[in-house]
Amino acid sequence: MTEIRLLEAPDVAAVMELNRAAGWNQTEADWLRLIELEPEGCFGLWCGGRIAATATVVCYGTRLAWIGMVLTHPEFRRRGFARVLTERAIAYAESRVEWIKLDATEMGRPLYLALGFEDEAPIERWRAVLPERAASIALDPFELDRELDGEAFGADRSALLLNLAREEAACAGTEGYVMARPGAKALFVGPCVARRPEAARRLILWVMSRHPGEPVFWDLLPGNPQALALAGEFGFAPARRLVRMVRPGGRPASPWRSDDRLVYACAGFEYG
Ligand SMILES: CC(C)(COP(=O)(O)OP(=O)(O)OC[C@H]1O[C@@H](n2cnc3c(N)ncnc32)[C@H](O)[C@@H]1OP(=O)(O)O)[C@@H](O)C(=O)NCCC(=O)NCCS
Repeated sequence: MTEIRLLEAPDVAAVMELNRAAGWNQTEADWLRLIELEPEGCFGLWCGGRIAATATVVCYGTRLAWIGMVLTHPEFRRRGFARVLTERAIAYAESRVEWIKLDATEMGRPLYLALGFEDEAPIERWRAVLPERAASIALDPFELDRELDGEAFGADRSALLLNLAREEAACAGTEGYVMARPGAKALFVGPCVARRPEAARRLILWVMSRHPGEPVFWDLLPGNPQALALAGEFGFAPARRLVRMVRPGGRPASPWRSDDRLVYACAGFEYG
């Protein structure tokens, strides 16, 4: 017997089994954050009393919804579970927003193509183990710059940023900001938005200086070659390649506008 219902905080320990089976980086704190940000948009499918599959949605106002955490436990694959949960996620998002996006793995992409998504751009996960020694960098406390982030990302993700800022975050004056958070396999650096490469350099170095010797993931848009150059210079190398995909939502939409050249690190495959 299968049942779909909303994920709640007490489900998180069981849901982590799906993450671990897929080798993903999200932690229990990441799942709790998704549930806190969008309590009506995090779905689980139970089969025979076990959690078998998940899909989550985060809405950024009425402009954009982001689908993530599309995961089916290996024992339950090829039964249509991801399809039915992604359809549920789309239905939830469609009534609320103009555009729906996601970052697709090779395994997920055929499903999303079948559900009306189109390729938008590649997105790459870069990885490094940080040097043991790094000069410390002084930055300013994080302050939300809604305008700069909106120009870069294309939608108002203030609620997400204020939530993530509880972890680790700093600003370089009014030139940009960076965030980081722990992961199951590696520290995750991002999001990072900056007006100029020099500011991005200081922001990323700030994170690096605080985590000597740690493995780090950094998600980059090749649409910003300056960001890729910086990652290469800091000893990072590409580890995975996904495809950012887009589909219209149900609301009348104006054309999409964002600026990848301001994006130095994405927020995570589940957030955009
Ligand atoms: C991708 C994933 C979520 C699919 O889950 P699933 O429950 O097995 O998928 P479904 O049974 O709903 O199948 C959905 C569609 O994808 C296709 N599909 C699923 N797995 C496939 C595979 N390994 N190879 C080719 N096609 C596949 C199916 O044919 C199906 O299409 P159809 O409905 O037209 O027949 C699952 O393999 C998984 O968790 N993978 C690891 C994590 C991941 O990459 N998630 C996607 C994130 S974007």
